Amino acid sequence: MADTLLLAPSLTQSAEWQALRDHRKALGNFSMRHAFANEPDRFARYSRRVQDGGLDMLLDYSKHRIDARTLPLLIALANERGLPERIERMFAGERINETEDRAVLHVALRDLSNRRYEVDGVDVAPEISEVRERFLAFAEHVRGGAWRGHTGESITDVVNLGIGGSDLGPQMVVEALKPYHDGPRVHFVSNVDGAHLGAVLRELDPQRTLFVIASKTFTTIETMTNAHTARRWLIDALGDEAAIARHAVAVSTNAQAVASFGIAPENMFGFWDWVGGRYSLWSSVGVSIALAIGRTRFLELLAGAHAMDTHFRSTPCERNLPVILGLLGVWYVNFWDAASHTIAPYYQHLSRFVAHIQQVDMESNGKRVTLDGAKVDYATGPVIWGEPGTNGQHAYFQLLHQGPALIPVDFLVAAESPYPYDEHHRILVANCFAQSSALLHGKTADEARADMLAAGMSEDEADRLALHREFPGNRPSSTLLVHRFDPRTIGALTALYEHKVFVQGVVWGVNSFDQWGVELGKKIATRLGHALDGDTSGEDASTAGLIRTLRAMRGDDAATSDAQVGG
Ligand code: F6P
Repeated sequence: MADTLLLAPSLTQSAEWQALRDHRKALGNFSMRHAFANEPDRFARYSRRVQDGGLDMLLDYSKHRIDARTLPLLIALANERGLPERIERMFAGERINETEDRAVLHVALRDLSNRRYEVDGVDVAPEISEVRERFLAFAEHVRGGAWRGHTGESITDVVNLGIGGSDLGPQMVVEALKPYHDGPRVHFVSNVDGAHLGAVLRELDPQRTLFVIASKTFTTIETMTNAHTARRWLIDALGDEAAIARHAVAVSTNAQAVASFGIAPENMFGFWDWVGGRYSLWSSVGVSIALAIGRTRFLELLAGAHAMDTHFRSTPCERNLPVILGLLGVWYVNFWDAASHTIAPYYQHLSRFVAHIQQVDMESNGKRVTLDGAKVDYATGPVIWGEPGTNGQHAYFQLLHQGPALIPVDFLVAAESPYPYDEHHRILVANCFAQSSALLHGKTADEARADMLAAGMSEDEADRLALHREFPGNRPSSTLLVHRFDPRTIGALTALYEHKVFVQGVVWGVNSFDQWGVELGKKIATRLGHALDGDTSGEDASTAGLIRTLRAMRGDDAATSDAQVGG
C-alpha cells in the first residue's frame, strides 16, 4: 500500500490545504449570527445523533465558523492524508507506531465479540479475553469478600498506585461512574510527593487495604517509589512479608520487574506493548474500575467504547463524530490560529475527564516532527484544558467571552441526572446551553449601551462602559448531548476523543502513539537526584544556584549557607 504519509512535509502545499486556505479567506469575518439568521435549518444540517450500539449521543456543531463547503473540504484533506487507510491499518494491527515499532490495538481490548485481531499474524483476541476474565474474576472475589487480607479481613479500600495513563484513565472512569459504585472505595495515588500517599494512607486500615500497582513498564520512578513505601507500610503494620501476597497486585507488561518486587505471577495481570499507556484503561489497568463498579458494568464500559469504534470505522466521514470533531479542531488550529481548546463537561463526576483527555491529546499530538522525519511548518496539537461547568463559568469563562484569543469549546451534558434533584439539573443544563448561546451571539456595544440606558444609567456613563460590556460573540463551540453518563456512554465518549486525536494526528502526519518528549526530564531528574546531595558541577548556573539555596534553607551544610541568590 502506498503510504500517503510520505507526502507529510508538503501538507501545506497540497491542493486540499490550499483550497481550505482559500475557503478561509473567502469566509473572511464569517458571522455565525448571520449564518443562523439566514439558515433556519442550520441545526439540522450541522448536527448528528448516533443511536447505534446502545448509544444515544448528539453532536451539535452548528455553532462553528463553517458553511456548507467547510466540512467537505476538510474531509478531502483527511482523505488526501490517507485517513481511511490509517484507520484500517490500526484495526488490522499493523505497526503504525513506527518510532517504537509497535501495533496500536487498544480497540481490540473493548471488542467482546471474539473476532480475530492479529499482531504479526497471531490472533491476540484469546489472550485478551483470558486476561480480562482473570482480572474481572479477581475483582469479583475482592468485591464479594472471598478475597481476604492477611489477617482474614475483607478489603474495604483499594489504592491504585500509577501515574500518567496508569492513573488518569482509570481515575477518570472511577470518578465518572461514582453513582454506580458498589465495591470497595478506590483511591488513586500518582504523585511522588509523599503528601499524596501520606494523606491517603493516614485514612486507611492496612488489614483492609489492597494496592494495585499499575505500571506498564514497572520502572516509573514515581510509581515504584510509592509502591516501595506502600510495601513498607504494609509490612510494618502487619508484621509479615507474606502479607504482600494478600494486599498488593500488579498490572504491568514487565513480568520480571513485578517478580523482583515480590509479587507472585498469580497476582499480576499483564497487558501488551501494543497498548499505549494513555489508552490502557481498557486493559487490566482498568482493574481498579472493575473493583469499584463490578464486572457487568465494566463490560458495558467496554461495549460503549466498542460501539464508538464501530461507528468510527464504518461511518462515512460526513457523519462520523470523531472525524467531524477532529477536523473542526484542525480547522481552528491551522486556519484560525487557535492555540488552545477547552472542554467543559457539565457533570461534576467528569471532574477528571479533561485531565485524562489532556494526556490523550497532548501526549499524542504534541509533536513537531512528522512520521518521515521532517519538521512541520504548521501548528499541531493545541493546549487542552478545562473544568466542569458551571464552576468554569465563574473562573475562566471571562477569557472565553471577552479575551482576544479564539478558543473553541466542547460542551458535554446529559439529558438526565442520576440524582433526584431536578431543579439542580434544570439550572445546570440551562447554564450549559446559555454559555454556547452567549459565545455565539455575543452582545454588540450598541446592545450593551441600550441595556445600560434602560437600567437608568446616564448617556456618558453608558458610553464609557459600552466597550467593556460588549461581547464580540462569534466564538465557536460544539455540544455533545448524551442521554445519561452511564458506563456505556463514558466508554463511548472516551473512545470518541481517542479517535478525534487519531484523526488529527493523521492529518498532521505525526505519530500519535509515542511520547519521547517526556524522557529528557526523567533522565535529568535522576542526575539531579544525586546533585541534590552536593555535587552541582556541570549544572547550569540557575540549577546549581537553586540546589545551593535549597541546601542552605535546609541547613544541609555550613558551606552552602552563604549561597548567592538574586535580589
Ligand atoms: O509520562 C510518560 C509515560 O510514559 C506515560 O505515557 C505513561 O502513561 C506513564 O508515563 C506511566 O508509565 P508506566 O505505566 O510505565 O508507569
